[in-house]
Amino acid sequence: MPGQVRVTLNELIDHVGKAVDLGIPAIALFPATAPDRKDSEGSEATNPENLVCRAARLLKSTYPTLGLIGDVALDPYTDHGHDGVLRNGLVANDESLEVLARQAVVQAQAGIDTLAPSDMMDGRIGVLRAALDSASLTDVRLMSYAAKYASGFYGPFRDALGSSSALKGDKRTYQMDPANSDEALREVALDLQEGADMVMVKPGMPYLDIIQRVKATFAVPTFAYQVSGEYSMIKGAIDNGWLDPDKVVLESLMAFKRAGCSGVLTYFAIEAAERLQRD
Ligand code: PBG
Repeated sequence: MPGQVRVTLNELIDHVGKAVDLGIPAIALFPATAPDRKDSEGSEATNPENLVCRAARLLKSTYPTLGLIGDVALDPYTDHGHDGVLRNGLVANDESLEVLARQAVVQAQAGIDTLAPSDMMDGRIGVLRAALDSASLTDVRLMSYAAKYASGFYGPFRDALGSSSALKGDKRTYQMDPANSDEALREVALDLQEGADMVMVKPGMPYLDIIQRVKATFAVPTFAYQVSGEYSMIKGAIDNGWLDPDKVVLESLMAFKRAGCSGVLTYFAIEAAERLQRD
């Protein structure tokens, strides 16, 4: 992914310090799990000493006011690259929920403020909310990837995570069909009913119509994820001299605001914040 790096725990504090200095309110953590820590059940996801939990504790003690967003899904930890566990070659929804709930609790206990379930299993928001409540983690926010499409634009992220080479088939049995639009509203309605505080649409730019419909229908905090493929298209074109970064970086983000977003997750965050400060 052009312009992006993976950092070790030792480099994390300096790396994130830049975001803190620029006033970025929150960062999302994604682990690149060592291959020998992956298995078919995604066990490392529930290890309180896993990379994300250690990073969260370190960041919270260094930057107590920085918001921490933790992804809830098993794909960084499974040797097959799926977001849930497999039974007879298929992702098993309800068995995955049990693992995801434990993953959510260990992350929240490590200091993650906002859990962002990106797994797209049915019923996960309710199950996570109940698990958090019974662990007395009642103040943790749930930012649901409510309308998440089975998109080709996640390619560079899967490469960065090391989950792409293992992934057999696709995620269409749990992520949404890009042809569908009304289904997004049903997904959002369910997640809100189950206890989501905020909802996300993903990818962002190819799905601006969905963002606008969600915001107009539910009037809840709505986020867009400008995903790795969208970012890489723009960044790659900038690096080749085909697009002018002084114009397109903020224009690409403004589109989300125009569509009704309350916030955007983007790999351009540092660059965009620097540009906004300069202006
Ligand atoms: C998976 C997850 C994905 C992303 C965030 N969480 C990829 C996928 O669904 O395969 C993609 C983010 C990006 O492309 O920037 N749980």
